[in-house]
Order: sequence, then C-alpha cells, then structure tokens
Amino acid sequence: MDEVKEQPQTGQSVSEDRDLAHKVIDARRDSYEAAKRYGGYKLDRSVHDYEYELPKFQAKTFREHLLDRLTTSQDVSILDVGCGRGVALAELVRDNSGLKAAGISAQDFREEISDPQLRDSIRKVDYKTGDVQKLRSIFQGQEFDVVISDGVFFYLGDPLNALRQCYGILKPDGILFINFTGLHLPQSDVARLEKYWKDIGVEAEASIDGRTKDLVFAIQKGLIDKLPMPFKYSQRTESGMSSSMSATSSGWDYVLDESILNRSLVPRNG
Ligand SMILES: C[S@@+](CC[C@H](N)C(=O)[O-])C[C@H]1O[C@@H](n2cnc3c(N)ncnc32)[C@H](O)[C@@H]1O
Repeated sequence: MDEVKEQPQTGQSVSEDRDLAHKVIDARRDSYEAAKRYGGYKLDRSVHDYEYELPKFQAKTFREHLLDRLTTSQDVSILDVGCGRGVALAELVRDNSGLKAAGISAQDFREEISDPQLRDSIRKVDYKTGDVQKLRSIFQGQEFDVVISDGVFFYLGDPLNALRQCYGILKPDGILFINFTGLHLPQSDVARLEKYWKDIGVEAEASIDGRTKDLVFAIQKGLIDKLPMPFKYSQRTESGMSSSMSATSSGWDYVLDESILNRSLVPRNG
C-alpha cells in the first residue's frame, strides 16, 4: 500500500518549526490535564442526538452504516472518542447484541449514568480513560468499523494529531464521523480538501458548521494508512472561541497548507 511522506507542518524555518512544535506539545498536554480536571461536561447525549449532530456519509448516519455491517459480519465495532458518560454506546450495545463498543474519555463519567438498564449495558463497553492524543497506543492493535466524536475536538491542544489517530484506528473501509473539529476553514476550502483526499484514494464528505464555523466531516479509510492533513498551524492572535465553549481554548488556527496541497505525492518506497 502506498503511503505519502509527511511534510513539515509549516513553511517556516527549522528553528521556528521547533519552537512551534514545542508549543503544540505543551498545548496538547495542557488540554488533556484540563479535561481531566474539568467538571463542566454535563452532556448526556443519546445515540439519536449523535445521529442528528454528526455528518452523514453517502446519505447514511453512522448508526445506519453500523447496522448495514451487522447484517453481513459478526465482528462489527464502534469507538466513541470523548464519549462522556458513554450513554450512546450503552444504548447501541443494549440494542445490538453483536456489536463491540469502545469509548475513551479524559475522566470516567460512568457513575453519572442513572438509568439502571444503561448502567448494565455500559459494563459491556470497553470504556477507557486516557488522552485521545495517544489513542492508537491505548487501543493497541484494535481497529474499528466506525469511529465517532461529537463535541470533543475543539477542546484539544492538537486536533490534527488526534484526527490522524482517529483515521489510523479505522479498519480498511472504516468510517470516521466527526464534528466540532476546532478547524475553522472558509467554505471555499472545503471542496479543495475533499479533492485532495480523493486524489490520494480517500473519500470524504465535508462541510462547515454554520454555527461554530468548524469543519465537520465523515471520512472513509482508503488506500492510505496514514492520513495526510494538509493544514498548517498558525497561532491565534485574537480570542476566537468563547470560554463557555472550551475548557482549554487551544490558541491555534489552521489553514490549508498550499505547499502540501500542491505537491506531487511520493510513494513511500518510490
Ligand atoms: C463535552 S463532552 C462530550 C461528551 C459526548 N461526546 C457527548 O456528545 O455527549 C467532552 C468529552 O471529551 C473528553 N475529552 C476532552 N479532552 C480529551 C482528551 N484530551 N482525551 C480524551 N478525552 C477527552 C472529556 O473527558 C469528555 O468525555
């Protein structure tokens, strides 16, 4: 399988790159430490809320894709990144006996589930506490048919790394559904981004959330194992996010990196 060589994240000098890399690492660590402390997540969204809020792929919700796969396979799995209490996963497991479900959260919120039936179902979910930035090592060796993340990424110090982790943990043909990415792009860049991924064999359907201005997308694992993210970081000069929306505003903006978009792709062994 061909893989694209990674480009540096910015077109800046080596020392500026190093400085930026340190800042990103600090932001990444700080956002996780804050998420572990943060007591303000009062969300208890059900699978119906997730279906409504997350983007569709090929006109089907993530749950419809799961149900399709369950009709032909015994080994269908879902991972919820930033799963909160895990209510949506507990509902899915309650309603679909063959389904394997996993979730990750910075804190363990399972005790806050009040419904006895769902408290029972959450025991069947592989619920882990840990940092999404280390997703692949936390779920070592596991791959998922569907990965979802609702209302999480705008808390993260480095959403690009976390997106790569989420893509990397998909099975071949697995699909990631994500909103609140923390990536604010102009509408005009959306089609360019979809085309960039399509040209390297990765199907994605992206849009801009009208309310948050975040990039929202569903992406299917394609010919490439490691997803190139054609963005570069730029440090935010003015506050872009209200504190009520974010435990740790990451302080970064992301723009499409023209040097990555325009480069010719070099196969790993080429
Ligand atoms: C606002 S809640 C969303 C819960 C759920 N997805 C929903 O929509 O109801 C944010 C979730 O993301 C988790 N989170 C935030 N930063 C994280 C990180 N760096 N690693 C893992 N989980 C994180 C929090 O612990 C919490 O479970």
